[in-house]
Amino acid sequence: MDFVDELRLLKDQLAFEHKFSVPKETKNVVIAGMGGSGIVGKIFAELYSALPVYLVDDYSTPGFVNKNTMYIAISYSGNTEETVTSLAAAMKKGANTVAITSGGKLLDMPHQRVVIPKGLQPRSALGYMLTPLLKSFNAAPRHEFQEAYAALARIDANHSEEERIAREIHEGEKIPVIYGVPPYKAVAYRWKTQFNENSKILAYSGSFPEINHNDTMALKGTYRKGEFYFIALVDGRNMAVERRIGITEAITDIKFRRIKIEGQSALARVMAAVHIGDYITYHLARMRGKDPLDVSVIEELKERLQAARE
Ligand code: F6R
Repeated sequence: MDFVDELRLLKDQLAFEHKFSVPKETKNVVIAGMGGSGIVGKIFAELYSALPVYLVDDYSTPGFVNKNTMYIAISYSGNTEETVTSLAAAMKKGANTVAITSGGKLLDMPHQRVVIPKGLQPRSALGYMLTPLLKSFNAAPRHEFQEAYAALARIDANHSEEERIAREIHEGEKIPVIYGVPPYKAVAYRWKTQFNENSKILAYSGSFPEINHNDTMALKGTYRKGEFYFIALVDGRNMAVERRIGITEAITDIKFRRIKIEGQSALARVMAAVHIGDYITYHLARMRGKDPLDVSVIEELKERLQAARE
């Protein structure tokens, strides 16, 4: 499947109906996952706040995990060693465990499993992995999924603006710096990872207001400011935070390319913001003559780690 075909599938993934059960005794939630699987937990944690959500993106398992913890391991392949290791320790601690995976070791380990279709890049299966979380925790009503579907379909039908942004980055050979205003903090990170994996360029992400307490000094004083392409993800709803962008520009003498995310529900806006980044990074890959599907260096690293263990 072509990468752009994978992108077009994202909206259909929102109709995925598999869920897991969340016991009413659940006191906290841990979501473990790496890379294209890990981003799912980060996005979920920004949309859901009824229970504390703790994210794991390494080999660890938090000390507080016990039988009242809903522990969710997400790995598209089911074999990512950090996630498998973390899940194994959570099981020993008596957590209520579930895996969201297309196969691999994770299939046989936890109490519950949500099996998702194989054959995609993990980062293109974001909808298959996020939808079970949202639906199992009742984090978004049905009409929000419909709105998100429509928003993604609009972007699939017309991504000329995304192509234009990719061209500006390409022609200037710029390094993207993406800052999200809540609820686009995780989305800013998703864009960074999509620039890395799809377009094969370094990128940096952060969020307002946090960057006003650190990056702001560097925005004014760093080497070769002209080599960066500064993006702010905004929606016009969080003016207390968005006001900072103009003030930051005035003080630091840099200009942000504001990407205004439209939509009624937070889910639709977050999914639209994800997809805008998907297409920018896809177009940039194309312009650079890079295969957006290629993750051979990540695969080689995993193979070498595996060989080192044997
Ligand atoms: C994304 C990608 C990687 C993987 C990561 C973890 O498309 O290829 O970021 O998501 O290496 O692997 P999985 O998702 O199989 O746990």
